[in-house]
Amino acid sequence: MIPNAYRTLHCNAVRKEHIGQNVTLCGWVNSARDHGGVIFIDLRDREGLTQVVFRPEENAELAAMSHTLRDEDVLQITGKVAARLTGTENAKLGTGDVEIVATECKVLNKADVLPFQLDRELSNEDMRMKYRYLDLRRGRMNYNLRTRHKITNAARNYLDKAGFIEVETPILSNPTPEGARDFLVPARLNPGKFYALPQAPQQYKQLMMVAGLERYFQIARCFRDEDLRADRQPEFTQIDIEASFVTKEDIISLVEGLLFQMFVEAAKVPIGTGAPKQAHFLDIGMAQRADEFIKDTDWETSMKSKIPLPFPRLTYQEAMDRYGSDKPDTRYGNEIVDMADVFANSGFKIFRSTIENGGVVRAINAKGFAGITTGQMIRLNEIATQAGMKVKQLAFIKVERDANGVLEYKSPLWKFFSEDEQKALIAKLGVEENDIVFFYAGTWQEACDILGRVRIEIANMMELTKGSSKLNFLWVVDFPLLAHDAETQSWVAVHHPFTRPKTEDIPLMEAGEYAKVRAEAYDVVLNGYELGGGSIRIHEKDLQAKLFSVLGVTEEEQAHKFGHILDAFRFGAPPHGGLALGLDRIAMLVSGEDSIREVIAFPKNNKGSDLMTDSPTNIDFKTLREIYIQSTYKEKSSPVAPQPESK
Ligand code: AMO
Repeated sequence: MIPNAYRTLHCNAVRKEHIGQNVTLCGWVNSARDHGGVIFIDLRDREGLTQVVFRPEENAELAAMSHTLRDEDVLQITGKVAARLTGTENAKLGTGDVEIVATECKVLNKADVLPFQLDRELSNEDMRMKYRYLDLRRGRMNYNLRTRHKITNAARNYLDKAGFIEVETPILSNPTPEGARDFLVPARLNPGKFYALPQAPQQYKQLMMVAGLERYFQIARCFRDEDLRADRQPEFTQIDIEASFVTKEDIISLVEGLLFQMFVEAAKVPIGTGAPKQAHFLDIGMAQRADEFIKDTDWETSMKSKIPLPFPRLTYQEAMDRYGSDKPDTRYGNEIVDMADVFANSGFKIFRSTIENGGVVRAINAKGFAGITTGQMIRLNEIATQAGMKVKQLAFIKVERDANGVLEYKSPLWKFFSEDEQKALIAKLGVEENDIVFFYAGTWQEACDILGRVRIEIANMMELTKGSSKLNFLWVVDFPLLAHDAETQSWVAVHHPFTRPKTEDIPLMEAGEYAKVRAEAYDVVLNGYELGGGSIRIHEKDLQAKLFSVLGVTEEEQAHKFGHILDAFRFGAPPHGGLALGLDRIAMLVSGEDSIREVIAFPKNNKGSDLMTDSPTNIDFKTLREIYIQSTYKEKSSPVAPQPESK
C-alpha cells in the first residue's frame, strides 16, 4: 500500500519495528471491547487487523468518545505504536505484538447495526446474497476473491509467455451451439431480430485462426440459460484458448502447465487451500505472519509432488465403464465392475437374460459399508431412481458375521447363485466382511448412469473425501463424436459441431456408422469436476458441411446460420484446435469451496436471480414496445407488470 493523505500503513503492516512511531490507519471497527472502562477496538481493513486502545490518561475526551464506536463504523485513527503488555500478545495476528494508542480518531462514517454478524458463518444464503457487499467483507470471501485474482493473473502471464494473444470477442452475437439455451437480446435497430449472448466464443476463436493469429486466448464471459447447480451459473468465465498448427498433445501439455501454474499461484495466497470455510479475517492476519514461510517455500517443487505431470488419461469408454461418469472422481475406489463372465450362464434368470439380450450386469463393492442405515438405503434407491432405475430397489449383498461368528451373505439374491458363481463373485469383487455389493442389470447406459451416481453417493455417505487434499487431475479422451437422441431420433454433437472426428474414424462417418466415430476431443477433470473441454477442429469446408448434415442441419440452414464459418474455411483455414477451462470451477476448487457462487463476487441464486439488485426485473410496457416485444407471461397477475394499453 502506498501511504497517502488518508493513511500511512495498512492494518496488517504494523510491526514491532514501528514501536514509538506515529501512524495513521483507516478501516472498519471489527469489534469493540470495554476493559474496565478502557475501549479496545480491532480496526480492520482489507489486509488484516490492528488493535487500537483509547487510554483516558492519554486523551480523556477521545476515550469518552470511543464508547460511542460501534461495529463496522469507518474510522481514521492516528496514534503511537506501542508494545502490548507481556502476556496480552496475540500470536494469531500479524500485528499481535503491538497496539496503537489512539491520539486522534475521525469517524469517516457511522454504520447501522448489520443484518448479520460478519464473524459467524451464515447458513441463510438468501441473506448473504441480499447483502452481498457485507458478505464480501468476510475473510473467507476476501480470500476467495484474492485467490481468483491470483489464478487469473497466473493464467494471463503463462499464456502471454507462451505466445498467446488476448483478444476480446463480441457479447452481442449470433447463437453458437454449446448444448444450452441462449439468452436473447432484442435488437431495437433491427425490429423483430435478436442477438444471442455467447455460450462460448467458439466460432470467433476459430475465425481468428483463419485470420492467422495462431495463438489466441481470452478470459471470456459466457452465458448459458440452463438449469443451475453448485458448479453452474448462467454467466460464467472461461479461459478460452485456440491455436493453429497444433496436435492434441500440444494442447494437452500446454493446459497441464497452465493448470499447474495456477495451482502454484493459488498456494501462495495467504491461508492456503486449507479451510477457508472456517476462515475469518483473523486468519488473514495470521497468514500474513507466514510471509517468510511463503517466501521461503519452493512452491513449484512442493506442488510437483501434489500434481504429478503429465496427468493420467482415461478413454471415455474406460471412464464410463469403471466410474459411470465422463468426469470421474478417482480419489476413492468403489469402481464399477462388469459381472458378465460370472453371470453369463447363471441360473438367476434376470441376470442371464439381461446379458443374453445385449445388456450388462454390473456391481459396486462398497467396502466397509455394510453398516448402511435404512435412511441411507432409501436415499441411495431414490438417487438410483432419479438416475433412471426402473426397478424399485438396487439388488445388494451385505456381508456380516452372525452371532456365532459365521460370515453371512445377507441378500434375497444369494440363494439363486450357484456355488461357483458365489465364489467367482467374491473373488472378482474382493468381497470381505462388512462390505456391501450393489448390482444393476440393464442397458450399458443405464448401468453407467445409475451405478455412477450410486458410487458418488456412497462416497458422500462414507465421507471418503472428507479432509482429503488429493488433487486427482486426469484427461478423458476418445469421446464419441455423436450421440443418438432417442426422443428426437436424431444425432447430436457430444461436444459441439466443430469438433474433428479422429482421422482413422472418418471412413466410419462416410459409411454412416455414426455411433462408432470417435472425436479428437479431450476433457480435463479434477476430483470429479469437469474443469475444461476442447478438441482439434474441423478446418475443411466439406467435412464441416458433412457433419452439419449428419446433425440434421439442412443446406439452407447451414448457409443461414453457419455461412460465415463455412465461407471462412474456403479461404485457407489452418489446422487448429483448442480448449476452454471453467475459471469459476478452478477458483472454487483451489479455494476449497463446494459452490462456484463462493468465488463469484455477485452470483445468481438457483433460480437465476440476484437478490441484491432484484434482477431479473419487470420491464414496463413502453420499453418493451420500443424493442418490439410483447410479453406473454402472466401480465395481469404481476403487480408491476405492464397492462395492455387501452385503445
Ligand atoms: P464447454 O461447454 O465444455 O466447452 O465449456 C468449457 C468449460 O466451461 C465450464 N462451464 C461452466 N462453468 C460454470 N457454469 C456453467 N454454466 C458452465 N458451463 C461450462 C466448465 C467447462 O468444462 N467452446 C468449448 C470449448 C472448446 O471446444 O474449446 C466449450 O465451451 O468448466
